[in-house]
Amino acid sequence: MNNKNIIPTVNPDEIFRIMQEDAVNATIPTGWNQGAMPCDSKENISLTSLKLHCTKCNINTAGVYKHPTDTERRCPACDSLLMYCPACRHAVSATEKFSILLCDRCQTDYVTNLTVEYLASRDRSSREIILSGIRATGALHLGIYLGAIRQFVEYELGDNLCMYFIADWHTLTTCHDPRKVSSNTIAVAMDYLAAGLNPERSIIYAQSSVPEIAELALCLSMIQSKNKLEDLPTVKDMVRSGETMSMGHLQYPVLMAADILGPKATLVPVGSDQIPNVELARDLADKFNRQFGQTFTIPRVGLRTIKIPGFKGEKMGEPTDESGISLQDHLEDISDKYARFGITDAGRKTRNDPGNPDNCVSVYPVYKVLRENKPDALQIVERECLSGTRGCKECKLELAREIDELISPFRERRAVLMNQQKYVEEILHYGGMKAREIVRHTLEEVREKMGIVSF
Ligand code: TRP
Repeated sequence: MNNKNIIPTVNPDEIFRIMQEDAVNATIPTGWNQGAMPCDSKENISLTSLKLHCTKCNINTAGVYKHPTDTERRCPACDSLLMYCPACRHAVSATEKFSILLCDRCQTDYVTNLTVEYLASRDRSSREIILSGIRATGALHLGIYLGAIRQFVEYELGDNLCMYFIADWHTLTTCHDPRKVSSNTIAVAMDYLAAGLNPERSIIYAQSSVPEIAELALCLSMIQSKNKLEDLPTVKDMVRSGETMSMGHLQYPVLMAADILGPKATLVPVGSDQIPNVELARDLADKFNRQFGQTFTIPRVGLRTIKIPGFKGEKMGEPTDESGISLQDHLEDISDKYARFGITDAGRKTRNDPGNPDNCVSVYPVYKVLRENKPDALQIVERECLSGTRGCKECKLELAREIDELISPFRERRAVLMNQQKYVEEILHYGGMKAREIVRHTLEEVREKMGIVSF
């Protein structure tokens, strides 16, 4: 964590070279070398032995390395992972954190074979590579929770490689307050975790932790017409009246394409407002493939169909204004907001008039989502409203209780995470390393195909 200057990916050739320099004539304990070799090839195999010291149980032993990619061993006494650390040049015990190895001696962390194996195994057996992002504009509201994050958690439970990030660069199109950008980035990560995403299963990261995405966006922008971007509704709508269009606005969908195409995502869950952007990513992938040769997977849109209306019937928005229920609201806040702002059936004049749930602007539609799998319970609301036996006030209160019950586990976990900022930062750090490892390969391909040479 504290050594960000070191290239996070271990170059196996480099390690092997240093290992050979440091190799000692240690005796090889029996049984040490009987594990499967990562490479079956008998060619180019040289043998080096190295003194290993397990910092956990203080035992010295020797490791035999047969191949440059063969850099990890376990301590025969305590079974903890031992690694050759290229930073401190010690063969010591290492701690595994979210499939990243951390040298116990100097605390440098590396993407290693273990990481790559983890990524490959998830990748190979997975049905999909699922990717989605949320801008860091503030604490999440109920609409995003029900419409998006709940689904993210479901995807994670399947055998998919899931990548969920915080689009902090995208946030810069509309927010230039550095403190807000950084604190909201952490806040969204906390929301992801409080909603139940598991950092051992999903890769959770900040977009800006993967600079390769910016380079990929630059490359993609070379084959993207400017006129098409200017005409995109997603770009036009972002520019507020009186404001001029920035390069950032224009680049927004191209950057989003890089988010998606970098990890070669197969399925991108987004709300309907983002569809034009995913379409653009698909077009860009296709165009690149035709012009430079097969490189990108064409991603599919995983359309989110659940929409939670705000109090006036518009899409539920920022929780800071009165158009949303924050996931951190308590029962009193929720019932108060509905009581004050929630518009119901305008045709219903008095308490005993029969109402019409289909004309209810902000309450019945939420019941519909929450009681999706409880048709009987939903029908009670409908029947009582139609017959005039249920007043809007009590209907709102019951809804508030139901929402409170739904979000209370989230709220509790979120409160705990609030005091664990370091842990959340660590998750983002390791998530970023894993995402980089994935995107790096795509970028290498793109560079080569476009004729960019690394000197
Ligand atoms: N533009 C998306 C939004 O505002 C956030 C986002 C950025 C995103 N990059 C993405 C979503 C890639 C899906 C995939 O909601």
